[in-house]
Amino acid sequence: MITVQVDLGERSYPVLVGAGARHRLLEVLPVGARRAAVVTSPGIDVPVDPGIEHRTFAMPAGEEAKHLGTVEDLCRDWAAWGLTRGDVVVAVGGGVVTDTAGFAAAIYHRGVPVVHVPTTLLGQVDAAIGGKTGVNLPEGKNLVGAFWQPCAVLCDIEALETLPPWEYRSGLGEMAKYAFLGVDHLPDLPLDEAVAACVACKAEVVAADEREGGRRAVLNYGHTLAHALETAGRYDLRHGEAVAIGLVYAAELARALGRIDGERVAEHRRVVGGYDLPMTVPPGLDPDEVVDLFARDKKAVEGVTFVLDGPRGVEPVRVEDRRLLRATLEALR
Ligand code: GLY
Repeated sequence: MITVQVDLGERSYPVLVGAGARHRLLEVLPVGARRAAVVTSPGIDVPVDPGIEHRTFAMPAGEEAKHLGTVEDLCRDWAAWGLTRGDVVVAVGGGVVTDTAGFAAAIYHRGVPVVHVPTTLLGQVDAAIGGKTGVNLPEGKNLVGAFWQPCAVLCDIEALETLPPWEYRSGLGEMAKYAFLGVDHLPDLPLDEAVAACVACKAEVVAADEREGGRRAVLNYGHTLAHALETAGRYDLRHGEAVAIGLVYAAELARALGRIDGERVAEHRRVVGGYDLPMTVPPGLDPDEVVDLFARDKKAVEGVTFVLDGPRGVEPVRVEDRRLLRATLEALR
């Protein structure tokens, strides 16, 4: 078992990574917790045993379930059961479950501890780490939420064995970005070490900038194009596939701006292609629509803000040249 510590002072917590990590649940529960509300979804067949009195609360599956109504349902069910602030929520599932149950935990009784047991690769390397919780509004994704750090995260590699191939692939897209955020030789590592290395990278960024005042934005590497493709809604892409295309796009854009050389772009293509992820924009892409959507990305503080590689590493960069953004999209057809 590999343990990675997320250092946030008195809110620090361990992330355990390895086969069977979920069986360590009892030892990471907060001292004094009498009851555990286990939140999961149909189809997530990853049993956990908190070792204290517990009840399972099923929330609906899928991104459509990530809304305020589900948060209200969870809180009301917990209240009916008598869950108190001294107890604990255990979220078992992918990003939809950990984001939604994590947000419900953040506001129930003004905050009840939560342990995340992410069961997808994407959840293990990203969603469950770092304390971002929240749900969608009809007006946009993740528009309501809270920073609520878990008291522990258990990344059980065994849970990944039964993931549908498309789900696993989506996680690889999110994983690939860490190869450019400082994780060396990522594709060569065994799965548990690769997950732990990504978690350690994210933990270091979160410890330095928990509330995304600046540096945490690097975790959105590859995401500006990915969010635009997802918002356009016409392209049949999983999140990680969209991020994979976004990584190659960001590399090409950085080269066009003279920030990196061709060898660094080739490295992006080697990593993304090595995971068998897409590197071209979807057929039928409308570049003008995508460039318009860039400006609406919620990370766009002013103008179009990309996260780009460069001599100082990956960092937010403002790009105003619409023609360049468009031409770089064309080059990825
Ligand atoms: N998923 C990006 C972050 O946690 O900041």
